[in-house]
Amino acid sequence: MRRKTEPLKKAEVRNVCPRPAQRPIGIFDSGLGGLTVFKELRRLLPGENLIYFGDTARVPYGTKSPEAVVAFSREIAHFLFEKKIKLLVVACNTASSLALAAVRRDSPVPVMGVIAPGVEAALKAAPRGGRILVTGTAATVKSRAYSKALAAAHSGARVIEKACPLFVPLVEEGWCAKPLAAAVAREYLAPFRKRKIDALILGCTHYPLLKKVIAGVMGPRTRIVDSARVAALGAKAELAARGLLNPARRGRSEFIVSDAPEKFSSLAGRLLGIKTGKVAVKRF
Ligand code: DGL
Repeated sequence: MRRKTEPLKKAEVRNVCPRPAQRPIGIFDSGLGGLTVFKELRRLLPGENLIYFGDTARVPYGTKSPEAVVAFSREIAHFLFEKKIKLLVVACNTASSLALAAVRRDSPVPVMGVIAPGVEAALKAAPRGGRILVTGTAATVKSRAYSKALAAAHSGARVIEKACPLFVPLVEEGWCAKPLAAAVAREYLAPFRKRKIDALILGCTHYPLLKKVIAGVMGPRTRIVDSARVAALGAKAELAARGLLNPARRGRSEFIVSDAPEKFSSLAGRLLGIKTGKVAVKRF
């Protein structure tokens, strides 16, 4: 056993107090959909250590009250702060819409959401004054977070918002390629096909997994905007600006959920081709 006064070896020092750049990026979502953001981050930032938290015990957030979403988000953010993260990415659109300000207030590190990246991507995809359709959970649509952010950009865009609550359970069930997914997408979105939509924002973590089906309903005129890549680019820029990019060749990935780790792991592999290894459980 080590005597109290014995100094730590170099490698041990690195483990106990990693340099700021070596600290992990924390990412959270209500469930597995945020893995779309995780995947982009992993692709863009291979050297970063990433910790993903999926609140699988309390998913979906999209049907909950703003108070509940704020309370859950703050709880998870604090759990990740204890893991000494250097940046927090709120991958969940519902949490980004309702809880970003509350999480930022408590945060010792920069916090990024997915609304601003989604808006940035949509404005690039749609012409000035074009028509933008925002899809999301009932809570995201009710918050009007996207409409407000688009209005603040003074783009002159005409914005329509549409909640598509059945998309999340379809994805969580792994049914993205079933005919039922196409039927549900038609029911929600076919009426907008005639309305000359220039860009459709996938304003929910899970919807990129239904991108093909959604694009099929909307037709070739509509650009489908996925904020995951833009969010990952934003995270990279934020870290670069702060001198916090990890120069390592290969970073670690850690996955934690609040329930049913095996289901999470199997769907992550099946739907997104992500091999999670052992998934830890943290219950609140
Ligand atoms: N993660 C949520 C979002 O992006 C979708 C799932 C849910 O309702 O919790 O809005």
